[in-house]
Amino acid sequence: MDHFNDRDGLLFAEDVPLDRIAETYGTPCYVYSKATLTRHFRAYTEALGGHPHLICYAVKANSNLAVLGLLAKLGAGFDIVSVGELERVLKAGGDPDKVVFSGVAKQPHEMARALEVGIKCFNVESRPELERLNAVAGELGKVAPVSLRVNPDVDAGTHPYISTGLKDNKFGIPVDDALTVYELAASLPNLQVKGLDCHIGSQLTETAPFLDALERLLVLMERLRERGIEIDHLDLGGGLGVPYRDETPPHPFDYASQLLSRLSRWEGGEQLTLLFEPGRSIAANAGIMLTRVEFLKPGETKNFAIVDAAMNDLIRPALYQAWQAIVPVDTRSARETSIYDVVGPVCETGDFLGQERELAIAAGDLLAVRSAGAYGFVMASNYNSRPRPAEVMVDGERCHLARARETLESLWSGEALLPEGGC
Ligand code: LLP
Repeated sequence: MDHFNDRDGLLFAEDVPLDRIAETYGTPCYVYSKATLTRHFRAYTEALGGHPHLICYAVKANSNLAVLGLLAKLGAGFDIVSVGELERVLKAGGDPDKVVFSGVAKQPHEMARALEVGIKCFNVESRPELERLNAVAGELGKVAPVSLRVNPDVDAGTHPYISTGLKDNKFGIPVDDALTVYELAASLPNLQVKGLDCHIGSQLTETAPFLDALERLLVLMERLRERGIEIDHLDLGGGLGVPYRDETPPHPFDYASQLLSRLSRWEGGEQLTLLFEPGRSIAANAGIMLTRVEFLKPGETKNFAIVDAAMNDLIRPALYQAWQAIVPVDTRSARETSIYDVVGPVCETGDFLGQERELAIAAGDLLAVRSAGAYGFVMASNYNSRPRPAEVMVDGERCHLARARETLESLWSGEALLPEGGC
């Protein structure tokens, strides 16, 4: 459930009508709901109840400081994949002691900064990375807490671009090699083994792949135990899906209760701290993107609704053929219904936000692209020299400009003309 609701024909974000937001901040514009973010985060903490746990929000899904700051206040930890994300978390008041660092190619300077601020754990994805981390920690006179990201080779049944737990994917250490890599980790002087980690993919709509992965990780943990390697926490990654259309992904409560039930039958399972790295399930349906219809362009085979947002603002439809609901903000005036491709101003045929949508709209109308709070603004670019949109956080009746629309000058900031006479 989210807090974007229709009230007498006008779409609201919490208690603010979206047309007012468009007037104040312009379009295209991302709008987030504080109450929805809070609700989604709490769904996890409540689902886990008294079981020791830490919810490390995946910063990549939406890294706006207002979002991170809110989640930090709610007690969230963070899953980061770059030093840029780490600095955002620190800037937003996040606790470094609740940060886990994922990613296949952490740079030495990124490792050093994470060691300096004292993060909770490095999720290490390969043997050479383990060796690099040991060397960096040694130079700084530190001991790095590590967890190995194991690739359990389970089919997450999701889009191939966002499936990460198969043998063929670049991520993690193959489950069959994990034992020897753990032995190496335990033998290196500047590392301390803390956890076991996996992340099998994103937008999963069933619990079965998660439970399959858990089963394989428990077998591995038993083998590690036999070798005297104890694991304090098990990190099951992110990946829980959201309803974009008619998907019915498990609620965090069902997901957690199935995991907890399995763990209760495993020796030591009740004391094992569980970590999760949800991104989409917290942020996606806590945001929409507002856009205005510029022109309606009827055609022989297709009608186009040309809007002021484009693939550079929200790339998921173009990149993954992702379906996101597109709804008019104001349905109070009579309009003729037609089938439209909703397209942007960018010079590419792939520039669409939705195809074959039945809409009753006229030029000048506002549309809301739903489920845009995750992997929306963060994936935006300046393609076609388009400034990136504003981001607004709504809290009840109040609005907060969480990120100003980029200016034209910012488009060439850092660039330099060639000097007179060449270089
Ligand atoms: N942990 C790790 C190590 C990850 O790689 C990811 C996502 C997450 C956690 C968070 O997963 P989530 O809970 O959000 O499913 N841009 C794509 C999604 C890419 C996901 C990448 N990894 C999209 O727009 O669908």
